[in-house]
Amino acid sequence: MTESGTSTPPLPHAVRIAGTGSYLPERIMTNQDLERLVETSDEWITSRTGIRERRIAREDEFTSHMASEAARAALAQAGITGSDIDLIIVATITPDTLTPATACYVQQQIGALKAVAFDVSAACSGFLYAMELARHSVGAGAFRNALIIGAEKLSAFVDWSDRNTCVLFGDGAGAAVLVPSTNGGGRILSSQLGTDGAQAELLNIPGGGSACPVGALGAAGTAEKSATLTMQGREVFKHAVNAMRKAAAEGIAAAGLTIQDIDLLIPHQANLRIIDAIVERLDFSREDVFINLDKYGNTSAAAVAIALDEAHREGRIQRGDRILLVAFGAGLTWASAVIEW
Ligand code: ACO
Repeated sequence: MTESGTSTPPLPHAVRIAGTGSYLPERIMTNQDLERLVETSDEWITSRTGIRERRIAREDEFTSHMASEAARAALAQAGITGSDIDLIIVATITPDTLTPATACYVQQQIGALKAVAFDVSAACSGFLYAMELARHSVGAGAFRNALIIGAEKLSAFVDWSDRNTCVLFGDGAGAAVLVPSTNGGGRILSSQLGTDGAQAELLNIPGGGSACPVGALGAAGTAEKSATLTMQGREVFKHAVNAMRKAAAEGIAAAGLTIQDIDLLIPHQANLRIIDAIVERLDFSREDVFINLDKYGNTSAAAVAIALDEAHREGRIQRGDRILLVAFGAGLTWASAVIEW
């Protein structure tokens, strides 16, 4: 893995999370439902991944709709409305349209009419990439606040006849509002981002972009050039464990802490075996790890955001707690953030 990454230069203002929110579509697809679609079993999926069910968006429910629902919940918790928001960053690999950005639709839907809005594409690490961009923007004083959202409709980009991938993913959205930290309140202590483009082929959606426009795919596409998600699972697994362990360790060190100072670990929700491998390598307590992938599967950029909101609303995060967020995804990308709540 090539060395690339960022550490944290000091900012004029510390930044904290003032509110979180999430949204999951109503429809539940269980492992038993998948047994009727492809040659698989509940036993295989559960033992290899820990996933039991996932949520699937309605046909007329797009990534922006889920993003806006999550945003409304985060805004309500922060005690502000869309019209107060200066900056919106949506992290997604499943935008409503190639252009404009999904963030533009969200801006309209939540009435954030004076906000600057754009998307970031960093797959499962996207929410933490958005958090770091927003932290710098707000911390430098360029924007008064920021709404960051991870949102995905992966069901629209999954090949439902490919058992290697279709059992893994789900739909949903999570959001957070970032504001300057005043009166000694909580703050984001550190953040680490990294990318290894040499591994871009391990996990991608090859068709539908300028390299292979939709019109050139034909009715069904081909195995090499489909507009659906393809993945070399075993390779991705190995990289995921190494990159997340490293990002977590570097994030904790950059915050001036040790692993014993962390109260709750919120990892990317891709696979329970990946999480267990990281927890073991970090020598961290399994009880202090937040896991919801059994209910939602891998929702890519939304996963860490949804987990953060659920952990917060369930009372797993108390004022003063130190939270470690860590993610990994296509790119390859990886990221961590340490937050004092
Ligand atoms: N049901 C039954 N059998 C299956 C299924 C299924 N759903 N899928 C694969 N198999 C079979 C394979 O065909 C293979 O059979 P074979 O030995 O006869 O060829 C066998 O099971 C083993 O397959 P492996 O790929 O070796 O299984 P593995 O233990 O590696 O688990 C998995 C596969 C779950 C995909 C794992 O590799 C993984 O989690 N990888 C990481 C994925 C990830 O973290 N992605 C994150 C990024 S996602 C993003 O950025 C959008």
